[in-house]
This record gives sequence, C-alpha cells and structure tokens, in this order.
Amino acid sequence: MAFNVHDIRKDFPILQREVNGKPLVYLDNAATSQKPQQVIDSIVNYYSGFNANIHRGVHTLSQEATDAYEVARKTIQKHFNIANSHEVIFTSGTTHSINIVAQGYTALLQQGDEIIVSAMEHHSNIVPWQMLCERTGAILKVIPMNEQGVLVLSEYEKLLSEKTQLVFVNHISNALGTINPISEIIDKAHSVDAAVLIDGAQSCSHIKPDLQKLDVDFYVTSAHKMCGPTGVGMLYGKEEWLKKLPPYQGGGEMIKEVTFEKTTYADLPHKFEAGTPNISGGIAFGAALEYLNNIGFEAIANYEQELLDYATHELLGIDGLTIYGTGPDKTSVISFNLEGIHPYDIGTIVDKLGIAVRTGHHCAQPIMDFYNIPGTVRASFAFYNTMQEVDALVNAVRKAQMMLS
Ligand code: ALA
Repeated sequence: MAFNVHDIRKDFPILQREVNGKPLVYLDNAATSQKPQQVIDSIVNYYSGFNANIHRGVHTLSQEATDAYEVARKTIQKHFNIANSHEVIFTSGTTHSINIVAQGYTALLQQGDEIIVSAMEHHSNIVPWQMLCERTGAILKVIPMNEQGVLVLSEYEKLLSEKTQLVFVNHISNALGTINPISEIIDKAHSVDAAVLIDGAQSCSHIKPDLQKLDVDFYVTSAHKMCGPTGVGMLYGKEEWLKKLPPYQGGGEMIKEVTFEKTTYADLPHKFEAGTPNISGGIAFGAALEYLNNIGFEAIANYEQELLDYATHELLGIDGLTIYGTGPDKTSVISFNLEGIHPYDIGTIVDKLGIAVRTGHHCAQPIMDFYNIPGTVRASFAFYNTMQEVDALVNAVRKAQMMLS
C-alpha cells in the first residue's frame, strides 16, 4: 500500500476535530496515540455482537469471544516473531508487565546480587526495581548517558560481572527519543548470564522488533501507544523464565486445581492472567497491529524520519531553543526548551492554538536532573502527522516566545 498521509488521516475520527477554535494538531503521541476507526470498530463489534466472558463457557458467545481473544494473542505472537503463543501474556500495560517480572524476581534474587538499569528510564522501569532491591538486598547500578542523551556502553561493560542477574533498558527513551542499541546490550548481558528486560512502550509504534532474533528474555509494551486502546499490554517472556517466575496475582483462571490444602497453578499463559481480562482491549490490540502492518513499518519509519528531520531543522531556527536528545539514532520525539521560559508556559500557549504537546519531566526525573532543567516541551510525531502540522508547531512556539519574553 502506497503511503498517503491524507488518506491515512481519514481513518482517525479525532483528527477532524477542533480545539480552541483551531484544527487539532496532535503532537503528544508518545503519551498515547490516536485510534483509527478500524480499532474503534473492533471494540464496538465485540460489545454489540459477542460480549461474553472468555475461557469459561460452552455457550456460543463465550466461544466466539474466546476465539477472538486468542486470535489476537496469535496476531501479537506473529507480529513480534515470538516462538510460542503461550509466551504472550496479556497485561494491563507496560507498568503491569514490568511489575509481574519485578515481583516474581523477589524469589530469585539474593542479597548482594546486582541489577542494572539505564540513566534514561521512565519511572516505571526504575521504581519497581528499587522496590525489588529493598525486598531482596540486591544492588541497583545505573548505565550513564552522555550530553547527547546516548548510553555510554563502555561504562555498561564495566558494570557487568558474575553478580549481575538482570539488565533493564528501554528500547526508545520517552523523554529524548534515543533509540538504544538493545541488541548489543542484550548480547553483553548474556555474556555474564544475566537476563534482559526491554521496555518497548515507546518503540512499538515505530519499529517492529523481532524478539527471537534479539534473543531478549523479556519484552514489554502497551497497546495504546500503537493505535490500540488503553488498559491492555503485553509481557513477552521466554518460556524458561516465565516457568521460573511465580504468579503475580492469585484468582480465577490462573489455577489448575484449588483445595483448601493446596492450589496448583495453570500452565502458561494463564498462570499470569488471573481474573477476567480486558477482553475488548485484547481484541482491539490485535486489530491495531493489523492496521499498522497494513500500512507497513518501513513506510511508517521512513515518513516519521522525514517529519523528525524537518521539525528538528525548523525548531533549531528559533533563537534560544535547545533540543535534548541529539544522538544519531532517534525516533520522532523532540524535547526542547526556550531560554528563560518555563516549558509549562509554552505548552499552555500552544494549546490555545490547538496544538497538543506534553510538558514536564515526562516521568523521567533523572534525565531532567542530568540536564539540570525542570522539564521540557515534548513534541512527539506519529505517521498521521503532516509537515503542515510541523509548521503550525514552529509558528506557535515562535508566538509563545514573543508573548513570554
Ligand atoms: N509514558 C508516557 C509519556 O511519555 C505517558 O508521555
């Protein structure tokens, strides 16, 4: 299918609306993406056509719902090139997925073991590991980054030792847009027999990761960043790791047999899927992946690179504007500040002009501390944004600068 942004935009009803009397320019895609009609329809069709609980009933509706949910699991398996569908665990999102692993590792770590995170993690890939260290006496080490917002791999190598049990790094930084060299990070961790969890919350809307090729131990992501609904995500784990981890929550669906003396747990994936799941969300997650694959990730990446290059060039034409995250491998995220102006004030003025950007620390306070700034303005572009929208952003930022200087 030829990439035509104007045709693509017709799939997204929300992109037709106005905000503050101006056409909406939605540049907060790293926070959440907008949803095409095909994904919205998949949710409506479930509730209006075959709403029932899954894996529980012999009746027709329950079987139809179960089939649709399990088809979505297989769509996810295929998309990420995962060996077995039972290695795909449906969760409520990236944070939930990380917490399943962090909680499970309580039983696997000992005092003095070491775990490594990077300096550019989202709080959801810092706090659960700090809590794990508190529970177990393990030690948290941090891979530093340089001024460009690029991880210093020579320092990472020095942190690795036979004490290292786990390494956690995001695939793409939500605050900087840096694409991390995860293949190298995984290979180096494996050379000391450490497992690796990659936080793919920001990557999966831009990149199609091949999880078997990466040989990653855990990969986590959220559907809502890639045109799917909120409240659903994925934990991928290699079968050997998922078997070693104890269940996260007890309840219905995750058991084999329950007596008051002893409970035995269900096989994968159900061991980690206690309770009634987000059924419509899982089905719509599959629909979102089908939608994106229909456009094609190569076309998406090429177009987003054009948006990134153009927006970077135009924004750097504004006096006193600094971009944070200037490494060579970046996705379509631009974090910036204007000299002497608080990011919140810029965000407020551009919103009056119909433009949605995120301002603040982006749940990545250590990055803000590194640059000694309170936060940034973050414009994050998706494949349905246009060059005209980049122009609208640049004009609005210039206007904000004039009003606030
Ligand atoms: N983690 C999301 C963001 O970066 C919410 O905006």
